[in-house]
This record gives sequence, C-alpha cells and structure tokens, in this order.
Amino acid sequence: MYYIGIDLGTSAVKLLLMDSEGGIRNIVSREYPLFFPHSGWSEQDPADWYEQTMDGMKELLGGFDKSKVAGIGFGGQMHGLVMLDKEDRVIRPAILWNDGRTVEECRYLNEVVGRERLSEYTANIAFAGFTAPKLLWVKEKEPQNFARIAKIMLPKDYIAYRLSGVHCTDVSDASGTLLFDVKNRTWSKEMCEICGVGEDVLPKCFESYEKVGTVLPVVAAELGIPESTVVAAGAGDNAAAAVGTATVGPNRCNISLGTSGTIFITTDHFGVDEHNALHSFAHADGNYHLMGCMLSAASCNKWWMDEIIGTKDYAGEQETIQKLGENPVYFLPYLMGERSPHNNPNARGTFIGMSMDTTRADMTQAVLEGVAFALRDSLEVAKALGIRLERTKICGGGARSPLWRKIIANVLGLKVDVIENEQGPALGGAMLAAVACGEYADVKEIADKVVKVVDTIEPEPELVAKYRERYQVFQELYPACEPVFDLMAQ
Ligand code: XUL
Repeated sequence: MYYIGIDLGTSAVKLLLMDSEGGIRNIVSREYPLFFPHSGWSEQDPADWYEQTMDGMKELLGGFDKSKVAGIGFGGQMHGLVMLDKEDRVIRPAILWNDGRTVEECRYLNEVVGRERLSEYTANIAFAGFTAPKLLWVKEKEPQNFARIAKIMLPKDYIAYRLSGVHCTDVSDASGTLLFDVKNRTWSKEMCEICGVGEDVLPKCFESYEKVGTVLPVVAAELGIPESTVVAAGAGDNAAAAVGTATVGPNRCNISLGTSGTIFITTDHFGVDEHNALHSFAHADGNYHLMGCMLSAASCNKWWMDEIIGTKDYAGEQETIQKLGENPVYFLPYLMGERSPHNNPNARGTFIGMSMDTTRADMTQAVLEGVAFALRDSLEVAKALGIRLERTKICGGGARSPLWRKIIANVLGLKVDVIENEQGPALGGAMLAAVACGEYADVKEIADKVVKVVDTIEPEPELVAKYRERYQVFQELYPACEPVFDLMAQ
C-alpha cells in the first residue's frame, strides 16, 4: 500500500509517497507566496495551500498505482489561525506562526489574565504567534471578521477539512493554540471564555495517529485514489518531524533546521518548566514533549546568502570557512523577533565583533554559529530542569550542511545522528497515516522499523571547550541589546 505525507510548510508544501515498508517512493514540492502586509506581520492564503497541495499530489502519484493509496497524513506549520464562516468559507488570510502583531494581546494574556493561570489552563504562556492571542487581535481589530467565525483551525487542518469534510485537529498542533489543556489532552473551557469564543468553534481533536475520516468522493475522483483512502489527523510539523526521525519514546531529542529552528525533547510524563521558556506540548506518539522554538534558523542563512551576499552557492560559501571555535564575530539570529527562550517580538538580527580584518567567511560562519548558540539557549533551559541528553537527531533543509551539523554537535556538546533523509515532517505524516490505517500497531513500531541512522557526528572535546567560552560571550549579548531592541520598536 501507499501512504501520502503532506508537510504544509511556510515556503512550500512537501509531499512524500511512502510504501508499506517505509520506503520513500517519490517526493514533490510546491511553493506558495508568503505575505508581509506590515512589518512583523506574516500571512498566507489557505486557497494557495490547497491548490498547491492538490496539484503536487497529482504529480506525486504520476506513474504509481493509485488504487494502492491507503492513507494521507500531515505535518504542518503550527499556530496559524485559519477562520471559517458558517458556509465554511475562509474569512481572511491565515495569520502565521511567525507573525508578531499580537504584542498587546500577549501582554494582556500574560500580565492581566496572568502567566500562572495560563500555565494552569494550558501548560504554556502567551507567545506572539500562538493562536489565542491572534483571536483576541481579530476580536479587537477586525470585529466584523470575528463576528463571522464559525470554526477555527490550524493550517494543516484546513487541508484535512478540504480532503475529508471533517473539522479536525490533533493534540500536538492543538497544544500550540493556547486554547488546549495539554495535560488532559482536551480543549480548555477557561481559555475559550477568555478569548470570547464558544467551544463549538473549535475542531474535533484527535490523537495524531487516529483516522479522522476518508477522502470526499470528489477528492478521490480528482486524484484517482480510492474513496476508502483514510485521512489521518497528523501532527504539527515539529511533532511530525520527531516521528519522521524516530524521536519517539522518552528522553530523545530532535533538532529541526527549517525556516524556524526547534529543539524537541520527548518525555513520558507531562511537565512544565517553571518560567514556561520551553513549550510543553502533547507529542504525536501519545506522550508529551518540551520544545524550544527559534523563529529564524535556516532562514537566517538563506537571508544572508540570497539577500545580502547574493549567492546560491551555499556549499561553496561554507568551504571558505577555516577555523571553528575562534570566530570573533557573533550574530544574533532574531530576524523575526524571537520566541524561545526570550519571548520578544521586538528582538532583531544583530552582528557584533567585526574589525577591519573581518572577512565574508567570518560573517557567514557567525550566522551558522549564531543559530547554534540560540538553540543552546533552549538546551540550557532543559538542562536546568534536570534533563540529560547525550545525542540528537537532526532534520530540515539546514541539516543538509555537514559544516552546520558539525557546528551544532560542538556548540551543543551532543552527538548528532544523521538519518537517511531529512524529510522529517512529510515522512512523519506518512508514517502517522500508516498507523491510522492499522498497517502498524503504534508510532514506535513504525519509527523503529523505518528510520535509519546513517552517520553520527561526535563532538570534539577541544572544540566543545572553545565553543563553551564563546557561548559565554553570546549569552551576554541578548541582555545587552534588549533595551535597544525595545527602543527601536517605539
Ligand atoms: C513551532 C513553530 C514553528 C512552526 C514552523 O512552535 O512555531 O516551528 O511550526 O512551521
């Protein structure tokens, strides 16, 4: 049988065709536009997502026996607010995970409602980009749109709805709404009241590996697949990536270097860090996880390469980097503000430490290192909770760079296990579909079977020590710049 994994990303949808044995038979990618209507805002049109997903699925299935398609599962950009009216029409463009417009709403939630109450109801506090603050923003700034809301959902859930006709989400993605009681894996009545919405506007919440329905006849006909094709709930992209890298079972770690950068740590019990610096979310395997999320990771390197130095030769540029652990230049990777652990939409990208002999290679290196240092900021929070890790998996576009993987291994002091392919969320989505169809008993069984580690980067003690010293400097930079970021935002 075949399973389709749909990773609804920020720059593109990635589609993957997996067979019953976990073999990847085809991969297709389709881009769509991202709109920044104001500084710090970030929006997309759900119609673009659907059009490109359907178009991409047709190409994905070209030349394959479509009658063997058994299930479709998802990974998807998290936190985005999709609003439908009572005729299931999209009310306004989706407001995305990296949108920073909700500074005031977050202040209200964290300071007036209070962090303690939020943490009690949802296990998390408000971050700009989470869904609940966006709902409050729409209520305040676009009351005519707010009045039309009949259903809200997350980005991948819009595709699931268009494919199956079911208003659904899954526990991992619901966790990032701030409307979800993570501990009890159910919607929070208190948060619905605080946001002024009835519980009926929320979609039905499933475990990520559960079946939500089957494809609508019209979809089956358009794609040429059986009407019995199962639609699985799927997961937020980070939880799906964790499945796709076999980051399943307690005390495992996965780092994703995509548009965002995340460090995802699994636990077999519910837990919250005292300052809510890490997100406490439900995992797609039925358990829980902690996660640090940086808003710009591989996107920092892309910005530096494409927009600033103007090259597409990323590998060639990285070949000019000679000395690791000795770069006097530092880069703060806050091009879209920052989520974990600083929670500051006003933070901005910053280079510091240049002199007349600074080279282009030093600056490129600083960008790669800055992302690694910022990931370490979240790892340090996890360590303070008593979490001890020895190794991590890695995925996302940035994980293709051997140099970046080496920098990460040495800055974080972790063994980095490289898996056969870095298609984390799309593969995870297909794997969740296979579980929903009963081909595998549970997420662990398929993860153990399908995911293969092909290389491990060992941290080198001398380099780890050099980076430890440099990290001490890096740690001083955000607190020093914070008042300036706030001034600049006025
Ligand atoms: C996670 C987050 C990002 C998006 C990117 O909390 O906001 O990783 O899911 O797609």
